Amino acid sequence: MNKQEKKLAIVTGAARGIGLATAFLFNENGYKVAVVDNDKKEIDNLSLENNDIKKFCYDISNNDHLEEMYKNILNWHSRIDVLVNNAGVADFGNIEETNFKRWNEVMKTNLNGVFLCSQKAIAHLKKTKGNIINIASISGLRASTLRVAYGTSKAAVIQLTKQQAAELGEYGIRVNCIAPGPVKTKLAMAVHTEDIIEAYHDAIPLNRYGTEQEIANGIYFLASEKASYITGQILAVDGGFEATGVGLPSLRK
Ligand SMILES: NC(=O)c1ccc[n+]([C@@H]2O[C@H](COP(=O)([O-])OP(=O)(O)OC[C@H]3O[C@@H](n4cnc5c(N)ncnc54)[C@H](O)[C@@H]3O)[C@@H](O)[C@H]2O)c1
Repeated sequence: MNKQEKKLAIVTGAARGIGLATAFLFNENGYKVAVVDNDKKEIDNLSLENNDIKKFCYDISNNDHLEEMYKNILNWHSRIDVLVNNAGVADFGNIEETNFKRWNEVMKTNLNGVFLCSQKAIAHLKKTKGNIINIASISGLRASTLRVAYGTSKAAVIQLTKQQAAELGEYGIRVNCIAPGPVKTKLAMAVHTEDIIEAYHDAIPLNRYGTEQEIANGIYFLASEKASYITGQILAVDGGFEATGVGLPSLRK
């Protein structure tokens, strides 16, 4: 690979939220960034400030279109250094309410999309000794009510990360995962009621939601050379939620 050439990061689900903050962070640090999203309206409304960041409107769960997506990205810049599998959907419902259609909708993007996008990036990541960052959730680490499909999809992404790290390490490809705590994005605010927001504050040692930027910082770290000996790991960027058991609310009284 030409060492002078800029590196390329692909960030899926990057028209808004955590993905957009991540795309800007890579771009600020000298990467070319392919912003992938299937929400045409959001993508059309997104104004990007320089030629090193470009929009690609694709559904990452649609295997039939992914060849074309990669072809177009590689026509723009002929290498891939980082793939951030961030696109995700949330659907909260109890087990009896979650019909097969709702279950499949969640799995299609949150799990199948990660598998498919990663698989198609491997040949290119081998050439750059690049890396993959998958975005799971604290809901994939700890079970909770109403998250039968979402939580299970994210737990699967955590296992998929370890499978990918195990197989791809010998090519010099690292694969890691970020498990974000709650962030006030469109995805979260569609399913977080007042009760849930309060419960999160209670259960998080830092006593607040995270920001898109704080999650992006974790993603960027794992993708960077500073993490060159880290692979197969799940980093919870969650204000301490994962580390905690009972007792915080009474401590705060
Ligand atoms: N916000 C939170 O509290 C939170 C917590 C834990 C994990 N996460 C995870 O972080 C990731 C980003 O979520 P966010 O909170 O920024 O949500 P968001 O809704 O603001 O952004 C998600 C983006 O993904 C895009 N997307 C969805 N399905 C897609 C598909 N099939 N193909 C291409 N793009 C698609 C959406 O159009 C949207 O722009 C998700 O994987 C989510 O599960 C979020």
